Amino acid sequence: MNETKDLMSKTVVNSWNDFDSLRHVIVGRADFTCIPPTEPATEAKIPEDSDMRGLWGPRPLHTVEAANRQLDTLTQALEAKGIRVDRPTPIQWNQAVTTPDFMTGTMFGCMPPRDVLLTVGKEILSAPMSFRCRYWEYLAYHDLMQRYFDEDPEFRWEQAPRPRLTPDAYQVGYFDEITLEERLRRTAALDFVTTEHEPLFDAADVLRIGKDLFCQHGLTTNRRGMEWLKRHYPDHRVHAVNFPGDPYPIHIDATFVPLRPGLVMNNPKRPLPAEQRKIFEANDWEIIDAAQPANDKPPPLCYSSVWLSMNVLVVNHQTVIVEASEVHQMDQLDKLQFEVIPMPFRDAYPFGGGLHCATADVFREGKCEDYFPKQVPGTQI
Ligand code: ALA
Repeated sequence: MNETKDLMSKTVVNSWNDFDSLRHVIVGRADFTCIPPTEPATEAKIPEDSDMRGLWGPRPLHTVEAANRQLDTLTQALEAKGIRVDRPTPIQWNQAVTTPDFMTGTMFGCMPPRDVLLTVGKEILSAPMSFRCRYWEYLAYHDLMQRYFDEDPEFRWEQAPRPRLTPDAYQVGYFDEITLEERLRRTAALDFVTTEHEPLFDAADVLRIGKDLFCQHGLTTNRRGMEWLKRHYPDHRVHAVNFPGDPYPIHIDATFVPLRPGLVMNNPKRPLPAEQRKIFEANDWEIIDAAQPANDKPPPLCYSSVWLSMNVLVVNHQTVIVEASEVHQMDQLDKLQFEVIPMPFRDAYPFGGGLHCATADVFREGKCEDYFPKQVPGTQI
């Protein structure tokens, strides 16, 4: 009891992966979330047949309330397990903002902290973000970062270079009249809307597995962003990965999800290419296909795909939280000897993703392990 109380009060920032025992986490909030106006990078996120095409502005209040109820339920469930939970401070996202280089009609929100905050060891880094509407999103976490800075003398509060996001950051006309086949062709050819003009990455494109960081090259993260990460984390090995089957490659956590040391789940529609599997094979990691989603479409006004089914939150090597309607995913994890905690979360999906997206690590037990001592030539950037 005393030990639990101590953990709840003493701030420790430390997390090296997505599966060691979770002690402290940030859970997002849906307040004031907007559907942002079209911009060069966000057209990518809105599929042709989506009910979001052409709409922008604040999301309907009843949907915000429903999402917040599910985020609060997740918070209570984590707290009941002795995990400390902090929440961001939403700002009024429904305001136009300007920088010397661009203007956007609204911002986005702070339901998915995972997109913005990258925790590596004792550091939390705010990512550059490649959407203009998400440029200021880190401000929702400012109070928390200040507090961790005051309470943990070893915490490193970091900010990646702020991008300019001028038209040079994007390929003009990239999405004009684009078909699904053409999207897949470009994804396979590593031809994305973001150019190499400046370093860009979203935190949710970076998968942390101890000493190795696997970065998804896609619509929101470019090679220069990975190069920046490599120089920023000189004690890590940074690898570029890509998933040619994904027509909207944005964020790695509905595509490639580690469950515990030695085991990772891959979206069967977006297999990791053979060359890139070698480092996992050489180190006896098993890559399994994730179960099929139970839902045949995402909820209304949702950016993400049905594969949020695999966007699970691993609490420790034996316990995982899964969206409550995802019966196939729950069954698969149950057979893998996990205790599965079902959590209703589909009302939160439209606000920026699933259970993993809606959280950001502050403290997981464990240290920086080397899970891939046998490196494969040519896989590091
Ligand atoms: N890009 C992820 C998906 O929707 C979140 O599949």
